[in-house]
Parts: sequence; C-alpha cells; structure tokens
Amino acid sequence: MVIKKQTIHPKILYYGNPVVLLTTANEDGTTNISPISSSWALGHMLVLGLGTDGKAYENLERQGECVLNLPGPDLWTHVERLASCTGKEKVPLGKEAYGCISIQDKFGYAGLIRQPSAMVDVEAVAQCPLHIEAQVMHIRKPDYLEGVAIVEVEALTVQAHKDILEESNHHIDPSVFSPLIYNFRHYFQLGNELGKTVRA
Ligand SMILES: Cc1cc2nc3c(=O)[nH]c(=O)nc-3n(C[C@H](O)[C@H](O)[C@H](O)COP(=O)(O)O)c2cc1C
Repeated sequence: MVIKKQTIHPKILYYGNPVVLLTTANEDGTTNISPISSSWALGHMLVLGLGTDGKAYENLERQGECVLNLPGPDLWTHVERLASCTGKEKVPLGKEAYGCISIQDKFGYAGLIRQPSAMVDVEAVAQCPLHIEAQVMHIRKPDYLEGVAIVEVEALTVQAHKDILEESNHHIDPSVFSPLIYNFRHYFQLGNELGKTVRA
C-alpha cells in the first residue's frame, strides 16, 4: 500500500525534542546557560549537537563539564528569553543576523535561579526538576558540515526533585515528569499517556 506524501524542503528538522538548558562554565568560573534541543541518550552517554560559534561549545571544549537541566513546560517563557542571547562577549556574525545580544548573567536575565551542582564545577538551574551532571568524552566536528559539533558526554550523577520520583525513589515517574517539547520551533507539552513498553 502507498500512502502518498509530498516532497518538501524544510529549513529545519526539529521534530519534537525535549528542551535542555545546558549549563557550562565560563573562563571566570561563572555559569552560562544555553537552550538546546539536539540531545539524545544512549545508556549513560548523551550526545549533544552544538553550534561551534556559541559559548556552550567554547566552554565545553575548554573546561569539559556541563549540566543538562530539564525544564518543564512552565519554564517556556524563561527559555525563550534566552533564545536571542549568547554568553559570548562579541556576538558572532551568524547570531547578529537575528538580533542576538551578549548577556553575561543569563540567570538574572531569564529569571532563573542558580544552585551548586554535586559533582561538577558548573551551576545548575534550580527550577528544573531534573539535572544530569556530565563530562565531555569526545568532540567531533564533521568535515562535511561547517559550524556544528557532535559532543559526547558521560552522565556522572542524576539529581531529581522528589516530586518527580516514584515511591521507590530511584525511578522517575513518567506520569509526573513533563519535559518541555520543541516542535518545529514551537513549544509544546506532552499529552495523555497512551501506554507503556514491555520493559517498563
Ligand atoms: C528551544 C531552543 C533550542 C535550541 N537548540 C539548539 C541546539 O540543539 N544546538 C545549538 O547549538 N543551539 C540551539 N539553540 C540556539 C542556542 O540556544 C543559541 O544559539 C544561543 O545563542 C546559545 O547561547 P551561547 O552562545 O551562550 O551558548 C536553541 C535555542 C532554543 C531557544
């Protein structure tokens, strides 16, 4: 059977990933925050897709640690406030094109609260119910595509708010935890549960 589709040429292929507020350490020990949606997990490894003109990439290449802070839908306006700013002192040309500005204190700028992390020298975002502290294992800059890097990080510890945990206190309760979804440049939240996999 063929169900006919049309050939299209979309500029982006962001088909609904969770938003991560990636925190990284600046040269002076302060913390930068970068919203990203290109991330996926393979066991305890996480793969991040980053633009190489951003401060997050610069910090990860130099200092090697980060926190993946998972915001809920309630934080979408805070995330969007960070969409057009960079921790770089000089705004890169590509970011200037969409009115990006340089902000050194992104916590203050976006109304987010800082908190110390357990195992890395990078602050976390207090309002996010889930923090994955991680260290860089490998960075690859594909030679077929300019301006992006594939960064592999290893989770060192996972810090979860008690409200999103099942009674055992070791598993995240998926009926409570709610990621913020970035779907073709629009923000969404999850709908109702449909079922569970055999391994749940
Ligand atoms: C919801 C959202 C998702 C984004 N996803 C990514 C991403 O996956 N990778 C990336 O490099 N930039 C992504 N961006 C753009 C960066 O957040 C943006 O370039 C920002 O200026 C980076 O800040 P920095 O230069 O301080 O690291 C995203 C932005 C938003 C708002």
